[in-house]
Amino acid sequence: MDRHSTLGRFETIRRDTEALTANLAPEDQSIQSMPDVSPTKWHLAHTTWFFETFILTRLDAEYRVFDPAFAYLFNSYYEAAGPRHPRPERGLLSRPTVDIVAAYRDHVGAAMSRLIEHAAESVWREAAPLIELGVQHEQQHQELILMDIKHVFSCNPLLPAYQAPQLHVQQTTTSLSWVEFAGGLHEIGHPGAEFAFDNETPRHKVWLEPFRLAARPVSCAEYRGFIDDGGYARPEFWLSDGWATVCEQGWEAPLYWRREADGEWSIFTLSGHRHVDPAEPVCHVSFYEADAFAKWAGKRLPTESEWEIAAAGLPVSGNFADCGYFHPCADDLGAPPQRAASLPRQMFGDVWEWTASPYTPYPRFRAVGGAIGEYNGKFMCNQMVLRGGAAVTPAGHLRPTYRNFFPPSARWAFAGLRLAEDV
Ligand SMILES: [Fe+2]
Repeated sequence: MDRHSTLGRFETIRRDTEALTANLAPEDQSIQSMPDVSPTKWHLAHTTWFFETFILTRLDAEYRVFDPAFAYLFNSYYEAAGPRHPRPERGLLSRPTVDIVAAYRDHVGAAMSRLIEHAAESVWREAAPLIELGVQHEQQHQELILMDIKHVFSCNPLLPAYQAPQLHVQQTTTSLSWVEFAGGLHEIGHPGAEFAFDNETPRHKVWLEPFRLAARPVSCAEYRGFIDDGGYARPEFWLSDGWATVCEQGWEAPLYWRREADGEWSIFTLSGHRHVDPAEPVCHVSFYEADAFAKWAGKRLPTESEWEIAAAGLPVSGNFADCGYFHPCADDLGAPPQRAASLPRQMFGDVWEWTASPYTPYPRFRAVGGAIGEYNGKFMCNQMVLRGGAAVTPAGHLRPTYRNFFPPSARWAFAGLRLAEDV
């Protein structure tokens, strides 16, 4: 990508992040509702710190650091970048204020624009891939801003809506159909020169037995069947760790579901509180719940290899953040009207789909050296892979090879599931 295009892309992504916070008060932006959640203000500063630390202070001799104390406050997890503020205590940072963080963003943004336009050719060659990584990183934090503010607002008895409630039309769901895939030798992993995270590489061979994949994600109506059948009280469906978590946490439904006095379920969304729509994909379930549901249904979760083979060649379109719903929909918004009945639907957008695959390195994976090597590789333990993106993922951020990952008990991501079965 040339300098002009890079500058446009950098400035657009930075503005997109700030637009997500336009309706938030400074008080909203300072709260940390649980250790996994970061305050909005912290996301705004941390994404800025990333450009300052990994690009400006290394490649621009004239750059003046905005505030040396920020290196401690806004380093997330990079050991090579020095000590940092404990993650569970990000909500204690009443200072710097939202205004100071905005000034920090402006300072770093202006320096980055100068570097992109005027850096010597040798510096530009080194900076360009880091700028793309920083932009991709900021897009990941755009999703985190939405995930996190949803959790923050859900903890307020007033249940504030992040955005104005939209007219919600009860949707209809299709009956569940299946798409069959041949077994044999396949290849997965990122193939080309376009940007991908290191965890998507190297491309490599996998052996698959023939399998079927559900044509759409599991709906709230189907998940309600699991709840009504006592799914949360029957250990036979659960992994041992999952059952321990259900008992310890007192789970009886997905996160953000609430049983009302009339026995019906309501749901908290970024557009406010309303009835659960039976037709929309179930969301905010952990891997444990996804796995238990699949066992209850007599099916299983797909492996990440199966998911990727099924998604290969499909257009990467659907209900992403750019649609503005910020919630999964039953309709496949991005699908061409004449879609083939033989193709799986809603593979991209709506909900991240838990897979049966642990997050481990692909064969012959090597993390790059230095601090940037800490981006993905050091998390390849005790987490599960999710695929496909969600209604809060920026459009254009996803690929069929994209690997997201969370611990199996995590529920605050926009995660659902799709069933698979052996042939
Ligand atoms: Fe980050």
